[in-house]
Amino acid sequence: MTADGFKGVDLGRGLTLPNRVGLASGTAGYGFELEQLIDINLLGALYTKGTTVQPREGNPPPRVAETGGGMLNSIGLQNPGVDVVASVYAPRWRGWAIPIIVNVAGGSVDDYVRCVRVLEPVAEVAGVELNISCPNIAQGLDFGRDPAAAARLVAAVRAVTERCVIVKLSPNVTDIAAVARAVEDAGADAVSAVNTYIGRKIHRATGQSVLPLGTGGLSGPAIQPLALAAVAAVCDAVHIPVIGVGGIVDAASARDFLIVGACAVQVGTATFVNPETALQVLDGLRG
Ligand SMILES: Cc1cc2nc3c(=O)[nH]c(=O)nc-3n(C[C@H](O)[C@H](O)[C@H](O)COP(=O)(O)O)c2cc1C
Repeated sequence: MTADGFKGVDLGRGLTLPNRVGLASGTAGYGFELEQLIDINLLGALYTKGTTVQPREGNPPPRVAETGGGMLNSIGLQNPGVDVVASVYAPRWRGWAIPIIVNVAGGSVDDYVRCVRVLEPVAEVAGVELNISCPNIAQGLDFGRDPAAAARLVAAVRAVTERCVIVKLSPNVTDIAAVARAVEDAGADAVSAVNTYIGRKIHRATGQSVLPLGTGGLSGPAIQPLALAAVAAVCDAVHIPVIGVGGIVDAASARDFLIVGACAVQVGTATFVNPETALQVLDGLRG
């Protein structure tokens, strides 16, 4: 318990976050660069970069583009692969106070299961967050857009881990509440919402898309009201804890998510503007 009587955020399966403010996946890597800039151990959780079975080099540049009130990214899940995370990165987290939640991505149910299995014996990993905004290679559709596919994925992961399983929901759906209910029924301990919104930017001089794959993921303050609506819908739909993410820049924009029912938040793009943002949000929520 902290001095102000706060007992932490209980996400289930023994995972209690020390406070409500975490660093969103993909915006703080695996924590090693940010640790040199801020006192990362004061924060509630580090959600790592999306991690896959095999190492990935990611997409060709440019991978990011600034937009009105936000940014587009198309990183392509660049990461060293789960074996490196488990054997090289995890020992570097030893002694860190911040819970490390590994964000897991894949193109098949088996990919996610294999990743989670590798992480299962790693003591430094506090939980997993499943990024279901990934195309299911067999069916071509993102797992997160199909409640049945999302549920199958979560059930398969549930079967191989005792750890807390958080499912990161995609906002690029007609009914996010239906996906949230499906993953809750399949055994998710908590959900985080939302991932980025599909967006596109045109290079005005050439008429071409700025990002090489055409579209990318929109994040930053531009999406905060959209994310808030999605999180409110998810909070109304499920009984498990909901973590709010999308466009948080300060304590006020974070508090909006708590008001609609989220138990914790993640700060993403705003960390690129000011690495202290998450700490400032934490201070502001306490004040
Ligand atoms: C550069 C970048 C990389 C990201 N990579 C991931 C990722 O690997 N896995 C994931 O679940 N979300 C990823 N996200 C999404 C963020 O975690 C977050 O859900 C989204 O950006 C909305 O929050 P924000 O507006 O505070 O950034 C990424 C976002 C950005 C900007």
